Amino acid sequence: MKDIFRLDGKIAVVSGGAGGIGETLALGLSQFGAKVVIASRNLEALEAKAREIQEKTGNEIAAIQMDVTDEASVSALVDEVVSRYGTIDILVNAMGLNLKRDAFEFPMEDWDTIFNVNVKGTMVVCKHVGRVMRDKGHGKIINLSSVRGIRGYTGGNSAYAATKGAVELTTKTLALEWAPHNINVNALGPALVITPGTIHIKNDPELAKKYASAIPLGRISETEDLIGACVYLASPASDFVTGQTIYVDGGLTAG
Ligand SMILES: NC(=O)c1ccc[n+]([C@@H]2O[C@H](COP(=O)([O-])OP(=O)(O)OC[C@H]3O[C@@H](n4cnc5c(N)ncnc54)[C@H](OP(=O)(O)O)[C@@H]3O)[C@@H](O)[C@H]2O)c1
Repeated sequence: MKDIFRLDGKIAVVSGGAGGIGETLALGLSQFGAKVVIASRNLEALEAKAREIQEKTGNEIAAIQMDVTDEASVSALVDEVVSRYGTIDILVNAMGLNLKRDAFEFPMEDWDTIFNVNVKGTMVVCKHVGRVMRDKGHGKIINLSSVRGIRGYTGGNSAYAATKGAVELTTKTLALEWAPHNINVNALGPALVITPGTIHIKNDPELAKKYASAIPLGRISETEDLIGACVYLASPASDFVTGQTIYVDGGLTAG
C-alpha cells in the first residue's frame, strides 16, 4: 500500500508544461517517478524547463513542440511520444488562457480563441492520447478546470468561466464514455494560483489581502499546492475515482 502514489515507469504528457502550473505539475510527476514529456508552442521555453526539472529530480524529461489549435501537431506529438517511450499512461492538460473582456463589448473572435484553446484544445489532446490509453487498457487524464468552472465571477471572465464549465462537463462525459476502457478522467479546480502571470497580485499587498480574504484558509495558493491532488489523480491511489473535479481552492467553493 505504501507505494500507491508512486509513478515509477509511467509515461506522462503535460500539455502547457512550461506554464506556471504545468511546470510545477511536471516537476511533481517527475518527483514521484514518472518520465514526463512537456508540450506546447514555445520549444525554447519547454527545453529550458525540461532541463531545470531534470536537474532537480534526476528523471528523464523531454520537450516536444505542439499547438493544441492544430490537430495534426497534437497527433504528431502523440506519435512521437509513443515511438520514443511505447505508450502514454498519464495526461495532464495544463495549457489554457484567459482573455478578460467586458461582456457588453466582447469581441467574438476573442471568444472563439479562448474556446479553441481551453475547450477544443482539451478535447483534441484527450482524443489522441485517449486512443493510446484505450489500446493499452488503462490511463489517467487530468484536465485543468478552475473554481470559475462552477462559480460566476466579475471582471470580464464570461468566456473563461464558460470554457471551464465546458472542461468540467467534457471531463465527466469522457469519464463515462471511457470507463469501460479503464481510463480515469478527472479535473483539478484551482482558485487563483500565483504564477508568473499572476505574481503582480502577490506583489501588491492590498490586492493580495483582498484575494486571500476570500479564501477560507486565508491565503492565495502557490502552484505547489496542486501537486498532491495531481499525483493522486495520476497514481493507483485514485483507481476508483473518475469524472470528478478536485477543487484545490482553500475552501472557496465549500461556501
Ligand atoms: N493561474 C491561475 O490562477 C489558474 C487558476 C485556475 C485555473 N488555471 C488553469 O490552469 C491552467 C494553467 O494555467 P497557468 O496559470 O499555468 O497558465 P500559463 O502560465 O499561462 O501557462 C499556460 C500554458 O499554456 C500553453 N498554451 C497556450 N496556448 C497553447 C496552444 N495553443 N497550444 C499549446 N499550448 C498552449 C502556453 O505555452 P506556449 O506559449 O509555449 O504555447 C503556456 O505555457 C490553465 O488551464 C488555467 O486556466 C489557472
